[in-house]
Amino acid sequence: MLVNLQTIIGMAEKGNYCIPAFNVYNIETVMGILDAAEEQRAPVILQMYPRLFKEEVGFYLCPSIVAAAQRASVPVCFHLDHGPSEWEVTRALRWGCSGIMLDGSSHDFDKNVAMTKHIVDTCAAVGIGVEGEIGHVGSVNDEAMDEFTTPEEAAAFVKATGVTCLAVLIGNAHGHYKKPPKLDIERVKAIREACGIPLVLHGGSGIPEDQVKAAIAAGIRKMNIGTDVCCAFAEGTKETLADPARSIAIDIFMKKPIARVKALAVEKIQMVGAAGKAD
Ligand code: 13P
Repeated sequence: MLVNLQTIIGMAEKGNYCIPAFNVYNIETVMGILDAAEEQRAPVILQMYPRLFKEEVGFYLCPSIVAAAQRASVPVCFHLDHGPSEWEVTRALRWGCSGIMLDGSSHDFDKNVAMTKHIVDTCAAVGIGVEGEIGHVGSVNDEAMDEFTTPEEAAAFVKATGVTCLAVLIGNAHGHYKKPPKLDIERVKAIREACGIPLVLHGGSGIPEDQVKAAIAAGIRKMNIGTDVCCAFAEGTKETLADPARSIAIDIFMKKPIARVKALAVEKIQMVGAAGKAD
């Protein structure tokens, strides 16, 4: 069933686990992840980068995702990831998103608060919760990744905006980590205590399992996984291309990439403790 952001995050909050939020890029990645969620009886978030709402891809993909989520027997939230402005948010709402992220983290604090609060108010009109971000989670290729979120600014941000959940910078980054990250778990606890709402961990690909579990125990309730989804899909494609007996029929060709994405999703669902939590 299609559920909104506050419902699915509320489930994790109540059960002290974490919802895996998978970035999806095409219908095959959606198929692999939903197959895993059904098999594992897990609530999941399917999310898309804003470029996919800008490009015409969204025009074809969004209705399919909404239909698949409605048909699923487990809770599924369809979420806009890193929405930079009202334009993308409006488009995502029009195309059926049931969760919205407004990422104003590259702006100064006051502008971030003003943009986020406006989107929280807009989305409240249609009953949809908003994820905000404070402390900019950049890429593994960025030079400076040291301006971690502070408990004080997180508390002030949450109070001023009314977001449902908050993405934080605690040693995480988007992309392939060059060396294993070292998450600041004490900081997660302090932020969580100061702001009192569920926290979101971006850059979930490649974070060692023990750190993921410690972060969840400290208050992370949504973990984003994008790069690993792409790698799983690419691996399945490479394997198929290397098989001399492969079919040229594209639906059959896609079976292995879908299976690889499914296997990755099963691994992450189990890692964050979401298996068996759908019922
Ligand atoms: P990774 O691609 O590093 O998994 O990060 C995904 C993400 O955080 C999307 O917002």
